[in-house]
Amino acid sequence: MISIKRVFKTFAVTSALFMPPSIVLAETFDTLGMDLSAEEIAAIQQSMEYGRQISQWAEKQNGAPFRRDAHAKATGCVRATFSINGDIPSHFQNSVFSQPGKQYQAWIRFSNGDMLVQPDAKPDARGMAIKLLNVEGGQIAPELTGAKTQDFIMTNTPAFFNRNIFDYVADMKYLAEQKRLAWFVSLWPPRLHPRRLYIAAQTVGSKINTPLEPQYYSMLPYQLGTTAIKFSARPCPGMRFKDYANKSDHDFLTEAMAEHLSAESACFDFMLQEKKPGTHMPLDDATAVWSEKESPFVPVARIHIPPQTFTSEPQQSFCENLSMNPWHAVGEWQPLGSLSKARRLVYHAVSQFRHQQNGVASTEPENWCLDESPDCNQYIDIHQVTNTPHLSRCFDSLNTPVDGSAALGCVQ
Ligand code: HEM
Repeated sequence: MISIKRVFKTFAVTSALFMPPSIVLAETFDTLGMDLSAEEIAAIQQSMEYGRQISQWAEKQNGAPFRRDAHAKATGCVRATFSINGDIPSHFQNSVFSQPGKQYQAWIRFSNGDMLVQPDAKPDARGMAIKLLNVEGGQIAPELTGAKTQDFIMTNTPAFFNRNIFDYVADMKYLAEQKRLAWFVSLWPPRLHPRRLYIAAQTVGSKINTPLEPQYYSMLPYQLGTTAIKFSARPCPGMRFKDYANKSDHDFLTEAMAEHLSAESACFDFMLQEKKPGTHMPLDDATAVWSEKESPFVPVARIHIPPQTFTSEPQQSFCENLSMNPWHAVGEWQPLGSLSKARRLVYHAVSQFRHQQNGVASTEPENWCLDESPDCNQYIDIHQVTNTPHLSRCFDSLNTPVDGSAALGCVQ
């Protein structure tokens, strides 16, 4: 194993063209103690180089501002609350889940997965990235300075099309040449990755009517206390959506969500799935879906998105300038596997790079304000709607609540 200090020495050299000197973070990584093999280091460095090429190409297509390398188009950033369930099992009571009943303010960024800003009707992966505010506990990644937050980053498919960082870098090589399929299938040299091709087709083939409708998944595992888990957010029982959307509108997903939230709230159950011994639940193969039969998702928190307006120009800029990162986290929480290690380096570097290119400061929010002005009213865009239907609180059909209440019961 090689220390993170050495990674960053070499990384700083190879990425010098990509990264302005101020964001080469060698000294800050010195103390982190994240072990990487020489092969992982080489793969991460190479991924960064391909990322640079993709980013430059995408910037030419998208125009200003300089956007995220992935999930470039936001369909909306909304204010939300995240409340820990009162009956959360004790072995999950770590990190932000340590206090049953605790409620956090949150921002949620919904996005389309592509590096290009495209019409919403184009099939694509869909992202949901949640940022909990004012969390308590030691930050797991000290290089991510600013207010304490915890991010949960998900897309609407349960598996990723690359198993690990080595698949990822091999795939990126072709993506950087805009050959999206070439790593999965090639005549010469002969190559075929049918299962990964199938997952990729599912991932980028998603069509939705509103960002509030899909179930979203972490795809990658995390360590929570002594338990390895994956997480997921699923629309609450009782959520209703229109089955029609005007797909000729370039931004119809934003329109659909704005229409829904103009009069009604939205709600997701946030759930954890734990790794069980004796099952095929690998920690460094992101193509493997963990069986829900062997380990069902257990609801541990409820996300409430109150009725609101979220499409103002200042809010869209705020959304563009947010930085989500799986390593924004506190306490007994750790992203697992080689892709997670790569994400620690990549997300931070890309975020710093785009902020610098756009000439804006990168800050972590502490509340629902769009800026730090003292007269900010956090609630100004929240609608006072009296007839929001009460959504029942249900439990996963395969999970028995720890208080012994009926497994299938819905608490009104
Ligand atoms: C496999 C699980 C993954 C999931 C669920 C995921 C999901 C997402 C989502 C939803 C976003 C948008 C975040 C936002 O709204 O700000 C995002 C951004 C991004 N992702 Fe991933 N991703 C995954 C893996 C990776 C990997 C392995 C890499 C590269 C090593 C990567 C690189 C990026 C980058 C560079 C951004 C833009 C970051 C920024 O500029 O703030 N992702 N990802």
